[in-house]
Amino acid sequence: MRVLGIESSCDETAAAVVDEHGHVFADEVASQVKLHAPFGGVVPELASRAHMENIAAVVDRALAAVPGGLDAVDAVSVTRGPGLVGALLVGMQFAKAFAWSRGLPLVGVSHLEGHLLAGHLVRPGDGGAPPVFPYVALLVSGGHTALYAVRGPDDIELLGQTRDDAAGEAFDKVAKLLGLGYPGGPVVDRLAATGDTARHDFPRPLPQRDSLEFSFSGLKTAVAQFVRTNGVPTDEASLADVCASFQRVVVETLVRKALAACAQTGFTSLVITGGVAANRGLRTHAATECARAGVTVVVPPFASCTDNAAMIAYAGALRLVRGERHGIDMAPFSRDPGFRRGKVREARESAKKRR
Ligand code: KG4
Ligand code: ZN
Repeated sequence: MRVLGIESSCDETAAAVVDEHGHVFADEVASQVKLHAPFGGVVPELASRAHMENIAAVVDRALAAVPGGLDAVDAVSVTRGPGLVGALLVGMQFAKAFAWSRGLPLVGVSHLEGHLLAGHLVRPGDGGAPPVFPYVALLVSGGHTALYAVRGPDDIELLGQTRDDAAGEAFDKVAKLLGLGYPGGPVVDRLAATGDTARHDFPRPLPQRDSLEFSFSGLKTAVAQFVRTNGVPTDEASLADVCASFQRVVVETLVRKALAACAQTGFTSLVITGGVAANRGLRTHAATECARAGVTVVVPPFASCTDNAAMIAYAGALRLVRGERHGIDMAPFSRDPGFRRGKVREARESAKKRR
């Protein structure tokens, strides 16, 4: 079954064609990064308008890349949430009109489910081995920072998430404080590579051993406080030291909690996904610590980690194969539907009550 996936939840207009085995036949993304850069973050109204301008061309490009084009598509999958509602509506309306006019089945999926299954996409020329169920997934992006127990495509449990800023948001905000532009992650990553990670002692968020929750707003405030007291460093070496010291705290926190999640679930595989998975410091530290702990770590190719429609097409294909369908009355999720309560969370909560 070849599924046309459509994604428009934030600042990427994307369309892809993927089958239920994860084979990617087409994957197109129109990024709005340049549009939002002057504002230092995504402006919802501008995002919706840009999705409207771009969506037809992006879908056309995806269909043109598939042998058989339009006629090769068997079903449509679309991101239903979470995301900016005006942005979601553009993709959803397009997907509904497309499915209805072609008489194709339609399914709406969670953007998060897409991210958590993106490691199974098979891209031409990609030699990496896909993750094996069950695994712990660390989703780290501009909008999300959370840990999940993924036992199968339809058995996903939220283990813990950020109480405030997402990790990518912390990178972006710190970059803004340091005058490094938007999005900040890649620049901070590049500067951090040459900096001294021990130069500044920024606070470690929620250091408790068994907590799988994150908090990055205090760390960002510590960097803001540093800038207020000392000003923005004027030479590149000092700037690199601030970036390296900040990044070290984020990376060590993410890896420590991901490994705590592996220990609590007993899973020996970890998948790191979302835009922040591109961070070189995170990849290196995760590789070292996971090897030490006997955990296999999988970081999907960058095109699968950032927002894309291939992951939406794949998550939708699996749901369609299970018989799920939505009508054209489908609305965006009014709130994140979350994931099933699972064994790990229940065990942790009852242990807390007993204490
Ligand atoms: O997944 P993504 O493309 O979009 C969503 O937020 O859904 O992630 C974008 C985020 C931004 O916050 C960006 O600064 C961060 O990922 N990012 C990075 C790196 N590349 C992108 N953060 C740290 N290091 C990087 N190399
Ligand atoms: Zn995303």
